[in-house]
Amino acid sequence: MQIETITTTPYNDQNPGTSGLRKKVKVFQQPGYLENFVQSIFDSLEDITHKTLVLGGDGRYFNRVAIQIIIKMAAANGFGELIIGQGGLLSTPAASNIIRKYQAYGGLILSASHNPGGPDEDFGIKYNVSNGGPASETYTDAFYKRSLSITEYKTTNIQDIDLDSVGSQQIGNIKITIIDPVSDYAELMQKIFDFKLLKQSISSGYITLLFDAMSAITGPYAKRILVDILGAPPESVINAEPLEDFGGHHPDPNLAHAHELAEVMFSENAPVFGAASDGDGDRNMITGNNIFVTPSDSLAILAANAQLIPAYSKGLSGVARSMPTSQAVDRVAAKYKLPCYETPTGWKFFGNLLDAGKITLCGEESFGTGSDHVREKDGLWAVLFWLNLIAVKRQPVADIVHDHWQKFGRDIYCRHDYEAVESPIANSIVEDLRNQLPTLPGQTFGEYTVKFADEFCYEDPIDGSISKNQGIRIGFENGSRIVFRLSGTGTVGATLRIYIERFEPDADKHNQDAQVALAFLIDLAEQLCEVKKRTGRTEPDVIT
Ligand code: G1P
Ligand code: ZN
Repeated sequence: MQIETITTTPYNDQNPGTSGLRKKVKVFQQPGYLENFVQSIFDSLEDITHKTLVLGGDGRYFNRVAIQIIIKMAAANGFGELIIGQGGLLSTPAASNIIRKYQAYGGLILSASHNPGGPDEDFGIKYNVSNGGPASETYTDAFYKRSLSITEYKTTNIQDIDLDSVGSQQIGNIKITIIDPVSDYAELMQKIFDFKLLKQSISSGYITLLFDAMSAITGPYAKRILVDILGAPPESVINAEPLEDFGGHHPDPNLAHAHELAEVMFSENAPVFGAASDGDGDRNMITGNNIFVTPSDSLAILAANAQLIPAYSKGLSGVARSMPTSQAVDRVAAKYKLPCYETPTGWKFFGNLLDAGKITLCGEESFGTGSDHVREKDGLWAVLFWLNLIAVKRQPVADIVHDHWQKFGRDIYCRHDYEAVESPIANSIVEDLRNQLPTLPGQTFGEYTVKFADEFCYEDPIDGSISKNQGIRIGFENGSRIVFRLSGTGTVGATLRIYIERFEPDADKHNQDAQVALAFLIDLAEQLCEVKKRTGRTEPDVIT
């Protein structure tokens, strides 16, 4: 094995966002682009010699090419072992589990999550540290800084590795192990949930289900766990084959993109339970027979019922939600006297709290829920959690949700996304909102009086690190909120996200359509930020 040092010139746009570096495939295909970023990561890490690195991705276009490049670079940079998912595949939560289980030094996950794939679409790469979670900003800032001054990268002249055959081989100083991407994960799930009960509930016909893998990574995981192990009929998993372009769709589990599932779940023939996951398997959408569960409600319901699940039967140490996620889980925490944390958007902010044992469950409004079993959000885990709840409670999804609202009140919630807004317009919207903040407290709009208006700043309770500018919050005396923030995962222009929430304690008013119930606040958000006026648009691109 011969090590080659290749001269390169820096790119100035390799600053990781909410979840790693995401760009168009064409950007990644520029000479040295991927190599520069990978070398910047390796250069920023402390002593990687002889260490183990986990490697895998969601199977999107460019995955296999990138994996071969990274294998050669990892070998040249002195890693001792690479653990790679067969076919170059690993879901994000499975990669997190493998890093933890095999005590790897870290992992590289190749994915642009829910963004579309294909030659003209998106690719991404993110580094996870030894706890299995996404690298913190201290790391990602270092990667970016290094990428701005990089002059060379290291690679080797070894042959491409056969990614499809499971097994180990030694090449020079590096051991390359190809593993089945599903088995460790399936084993972990069996430790958390009551598989015996789930099997019975499925075989008796009490639970019928439909899972939409959206032609992305969760297909093989869902087939193994739901069909092979739990005995659901094979047709319970649709779009189960991971495709490089996700069949031309957005692999994003919401009612707009998972429309095949939505059509069935909102029909007369709907099964008891329906769910979907995203490109890399960390997101989840939960539905029941003619009901959609918002991710914020889902988190609250899981927290309120966690003791019914074997792994959480002793109770939760605490819960956390990202700032724009509704306050539904806060009500559960208050009732059961659990610590509750509010973190900035992005899973990386939960890592320290999970490591310190301060929280057991956490989640985001963006279809992400998870627990201390890994350090990523976990789509299939959330699916199994719901199935286990349905099996124990012997209640349909709608009853579980309505009972929850009855007990805790309902946080009526929605998010409006304006995608691919020209960056100067998006920046001026945020700037103008920022300028309004001091004048807002005390002002009254209809029945809403502004209690506070600020820009969210987070101090990590474990390491004291401070993250500023994490979204603009306008909170009202009655607990309602409007939050504005710019996405950190988009690859075209800027995406403005507007999050709107209102608490409804009155059970007689729980069955309202969110868009109708929130109409006043939606109009007020427009009045404050003028996104429609400034962009000439009439509607958000996506409403969730
Ligand atoms: C989005 C979500 C965020 C999530 C991230 C990665 O980030 O809003 O909650 O953690 O994707 O899945 P954003 O584009 O808003 O920065
Ligand atoms: Zn994802």
